[in-house]
Amino acid sequence: METLTTAVELRARISAWRREGARIGLVPTMGNLHNGHFSLITLAQKHADRVVASIFVNPTQFGPREDFANYPRTLAQDQNGLAAHDCDLAFVPSVEEMYPFGSMQSVRVEVPAVSEPLEGATRPGHFAGVATVVTKLFNLVQPDCAVFGRKDYQQLLVIQRMVRDLRLPIEIVAAPTQREANGLAMSSRNQYLSAEELEHAAAIYRTLCAMRDALNAGQDIAVIEAQARQRLETAGLLPDYAVLRRADDLLEAQPNVRSGLIALIAARLGRARLIDNLAC
Ligand code: PAF
Repeated sequence: METLTTAVELRARISAWRREGARIGLVPTMGNLHNGHFSLITLAQKHADRVVASIFVNPTQFGPREDFANYPRTLAQDQNGLAAHDCDLAFVPSVEEMYPFGSMQSVRVEVPAVSEPLEGATRPGHFAGVATVVTKLFNLVQPDCAVFGRKDYQQLLVIQRMVRDLRLPIEIVAAPTQREANGLAMSSRNQYLSAEELEHAAAIYRTLCAMRDALNAGQDIAVIEAQARQRLETAGLLPDYAVLRRADDLLEAQPNVRSGLIALIAARLGRARLIDNLAC
């Protein structure tokens, strides 16, 4: 598998593929790849003839007190994993390549409304950073399709809205969340957890399932949310939110509406902040 680091090289390779008539798929990542990422590559291969995985730890989506400096960087291992999954190309740009005027002076892409609640409230500027870097990657690769995981559900909605609003001719493919045997959603940040914490973290998925079941049993949404927070705290987690929202825009549901909802949790455990969700 080839690795390219510059826009010029990347564009030349993509042009050659286009001349062959290939349909091109993109899987944007921040590296430290695990089976969750590899499932995105496999899904992209079903939608495209050639698959590019980008590996870029994007500084503009991290807050000043977040883990940008310590985010796990495992390039050689990632390249081996991508090659083993028959990915065609890894695009691994530097910060200078992606932000030629510096990350503070960059053009920014803002996606109002859907970026604002939940992750957007806890992590101001996070989704502008994501939307900006994904727009740059879309512009560089000009893919026919791009795959994003449902685990980052709000991110998926932000990207879908951005693509529709900017009229980008890119199919956004949503990939199912990959889970460990105990239900914990696969995430690079799981490696911040000890073996004991990894077991405690499974309470997130159990709580999501309990929220879905309580909703289906007709319980009041405010009661379900309060019980979910309680359940997480009892398991030793510090919840940021544990909510039921409308799946299409993340707004609060009307009390009598019980369909088209999604349960979402963000919680801190040890050094990690974990997110997960479950369609109800
Ligand atoms: O989900 C991620 O890994 C990142 O937010 C993304 C989409 C690669 C943008 O940096």
